[in-house]
Amino acid sequence: MKKKGRVAVLLSGRGSNFEAIYQNSLKPDANYEVIVVISDNKDARGLERAREFGLKAFHVSPKKLKPKKVYEGKILEILKAHDVDLICLAGYMRIVGETLLSAYAGRLINIHPALLPSFPGLHGQKQALDYGVKVSGCTVHFVDNGVDTGPIILQKSVDVKEDDSEETLSQRILKQEHQLYSQAVTLFFENRLQIQGRRVIILS
Ligand code: GRF
Repeated sequence: MKKKGRVAVLLSGRGSNFEAIYQNSLKPDANYEVIVVISDNKDARGLERAREFGLKAFHVSPKKLKPKKVYEGKILEILKAHDVDLICLAGYMRIVGETLLSAYAGRLINIHPALLPSFPGLHGQKQALDYGVKVSGCTVHFVDNGVDTGPIILQKSVDVKEDDSEETLSQRILKQEHQLYSQAVTLFFENRLQIQGRRVIILS
């Protein structure tokens, strides 16, 4: 049997995307497993959930480990010790620095709750509502040294309704995020994602 891909999830909060990726990994035909969850926030709900699932879960403190390369060096140590192939950022509220980027070039992905390049950064759903767009959605992309600027892997659109609030729109987008993220991870481990400049070609 083919070896399954080894995933680490980095998160700072609720962790619903982590849970979706994890639940998908439990399907019999899944081609990856979640090996470890790491958080910069010791109180992250996602970290607690990971422990409930019996997964390895670590808090790494950016306050205690300074500068950033020391903090990321510690994360890297954990990733290497667990032989991690792919890092999934899932609500990880920090900009990834050079230490992780160079060690995991092309193997580090993120999900964003808007159709990039529109509305990067914080509160993508609110930005979309405030702007008045009729369609928003979510994006899974490779991570580079910008904020939500890396090559786009998958996107899913979500219609904005007349009576949407930030909360209702966020909920509908989140539902799509949960599917899209696992889909992207699966494609990654099928070796079907080829980065060509800004474009990610999905091989058939
Ligand atoms: C999601 O909306 C994700 O797109 C964004 O942060 C949120 C994290 O939610 N990057 P959760 O922690 O996965 O529930």
